Amino acid sequence: MAFLLKLNAIKKELELLRGLIEETQSIHQKDGISDQDILIPLDDLLDSIAPVKARINEWLEDKQSLIEELEFLTEGFRREYGAVLDYKQFASLVKNPELKERLAAYGREEAHHANQLTELIFKHGGTPEYIFAVSREKDGWGPEQYLDYFIDQEKEAARFYQSGEEKFQDAKFRWLLGEIKTEEKEHLKELQKLKDEFLKKEIVITMDPDFKWVDPFMGEPGDRAWIE
Ligand SMILES: [Fe+2]
Ligand SMILES: [Fe+2]
Repeated sequence: MAFLLKLNAIKKELELLRGLIEETQSIHQKDGISDQDILIPLDDLLDSIAPVKARINEWLEDKQSLIEELEFLTEGFRREYGAVLDYKQFASLVKNPELKERLAAYGREEAHHANQLTELIFKHGGTPEYIFAVSREKDGWGPEQYLDYFIDQEKEAARFYQSGEEKFQDAKFRWLLGEIKTEEKEHLKELQKLKDEFLKKEIVITMDPDFKWVDPFMGEPGDRAWIE
């Protein structure tokens, strides 16, 4: 599978390269460049791309759906793991014990989704990957901003799984996406309710002003089945 993925990546890069060369060729006159020592090799390079791409396409033809499924799963995993981190972070900031537990529960459910996707990623011959990006965007956020953010994320997650259900044919694959989508919609409903309660001041969310988010989420034992 690794070979297929790399080949698919080459295919995409070749497409980019082709565009770049054509762009370069279209501006050389305007920029007063007429040196054939550079223009001819560029022509040759462009000519060599098409047959290689055609060959790769031919070779990948019947494997395309497998590759697309794996790309979708990998993107899903990236989102789920990001959601685990976000819920964990907000749960650490909040002092209300009941709310803390609810947020931690959402985090556990997102971790469960990540595990489900991971299983399928392995079955497809892939490896789940998450790149930690240290983001400062949430610095100084209050509860309302966090809630709005989670509501958006859950909406986006439901849309993402819906798009997968529409795109892919495999029954088992679609069943899993449908199941996760339903759970994301449930999260969305609960968060919207939570926000209403918060706005009506039935809940006062207390956040720890001294809390410093330092380490990325390392999870509880069993939370990260893909590496443990
Ligand atoms: Fe999820
Ligand atoms: Fe969710």
